[in-house]
Amino acid sequence: MPDTSNLRDAALPQTFAIKSFGCQMNVYDGERMAELLTAQGMTASDGRAEADLIVLNTCHIRERAVDKVYSDIGRLRREDGTVPLIAVAGCVAQAEGEEIMARAPSVKMVVGPQAYHRLPAMIAEAAAGRRATDTDMPAETKFDALPRRRKSGPTAFLTVQEGCDKFCTYCVVPYTRGTEISRPFAALVDEAKALVEAGAREITLLGQNVNAWSGEDDKGRKVGLAGLAETLADIPALARIRYTTSHPTDMDDALIAAHADNPKLMPFLHLPVQSGSDRILKAMNRSHTVESYRKLLDRVRAVRPDIALSGDFIVGFPGETEDDFAQTLRLIDAVGYAQAFSFKYSPRPGTPAATMDGQIAADVMDRRLQDLQAAINRDQHAFNLASMGRRCSVLIERKGKLRGQMLGKSAWLQSVHLMTDATIGDLLEVEITLAGPNSLGGTELARVAV
Ligand code: SAH
Ligand code: SF4
Ligand code: F3S
Repeated sequence: MPDTSNLRDAALPQTFAIKSFGCQMNVYDGERMAELLTAQGMTASDGRAEADLIVLNTCHIRERAVDKVYSDIGRLRREDGTVPLIAVAGCVAQAEGEEIMARAPSVKMVVGPQAYHRLPAMIAEAAAGRRATDTDMPAETKFDALPRRRKSGPTAFLTVQEGCDKFCTYCVVPYTRGTEISRPFAALVDEAKALVEAGAREITLLGQNVNAWSGEDDKGRKVGLAGLAETLADIPALARIRYTTSHPTDMDDALIAAHADNPKLMPFLHLPVQSGSDRILKAMNRSHTVESYRKLLDRVRAVRPDIALSGDFIVGFPGETEDDFAQTLRLIDAVGYAQAFSFKYSPRPGTPAATMDGQIAADVMDRRLQDLQAAINRDQHAFNLASMGRRCSVLIERKGKLRGQMLGKSAWLQSVHLMTDATIGDLLEVEITLAGPNSLGGTELARVAV
């Protein structure tokens, strides 16, 4: 293995840029790769074209992902005809690594989501003219090999769980991210403390199935996500805790109760359902029914009536009839989401649904997606309107467009703009005085000490 303790060598790249696509787990991985390369002596470059090394941190969840990677690679050619050192990371690297190496000679490294701690050694190889591929899912975890967190900013992601064993019939994640793994409790508490020391006031715990996280706390007791959140709530300067994405079948009593008992756990729950038809849920291998999902939401609302609910929906899954789709719209009507993500079904190579009968025509999918998004937008606006006159905390995240205007998020995750002399990272008590379809306006009432 080459010595990579100091990458400040003429042949090695001095500057890097990382471009992350896809989910928040990829954003987190991108940050950790940046910290890793910085610890090796490299400097992050803002202008991507100028960087010596470009990492494309890719997503494979829906189609055209691979085409996008190839077109991105093409665009990295500089005006003088030279190309930077290119690494393809993330879920496309895991799924299509060999093909990328064969088709794109300018790609010098392919690294999967569980192997990126080995990037420094790969860079040394690539700089010496040898292309390197690593799509292992090693038993040793990358997290132990990564440097201490140094990312600063008021909000931070913290991956607590990775991988998925659910095998929904449409989804590539179990193949690209591997089996479900929970990071150890102590490592997570340490990382959260480092993030808070670096300025985080809000931490979002991440996982493909974040509520499947389990571990042993400092007293040796078996705990789930609620237990972890309870310990993190003891970090004095941490004001807010969120988590995403949850799976309905992993939503346990303790986590529901935490929404009443843990004052730092924000009143927001992203709980994908995908469809409002039991027939389709079965074909998707979702392991919950519409009724079990609705009962779960009722239990959450019973302990936390103001909770903002969010979901994911797929329209046009193979075999989806007009009646199935109408059931999805009825579910949306019944729940009243504060926001939601919706997607057209995309056949993914190697997944069972890709070869199922009854693939749906593009124009039908387009119309269903439009109808579904209209329903979601209507509910989102209604939720925002219902926020008028409410008082809530807002964590300031950035400057607004107007002079003296700042932007932050409400407890329910809506964007809120307001006039204030507060700075980024301040937590304010705000009264909501304006409600639009996509954001709120507010008036500052007080500063909250964190
Ligand atoms: N682990 C989470 C989310 C994983 S991917 C969960 O189980 O809910 C994020 C979302 O992408 C999914 O919830 C689903 O709505 C969507 N998605 C996944 N595969 C898809 C596909 N093949 N076509 C369209 N949407 C898909
Ligand atoms: Fe994909 Fe289903 Fe796993 Fe979510 S639970 S990551 S949709 S297989
Ligand atoms: Fe995409 Fe991989 Fe995340 S496929 S959604 S980057 S887990």
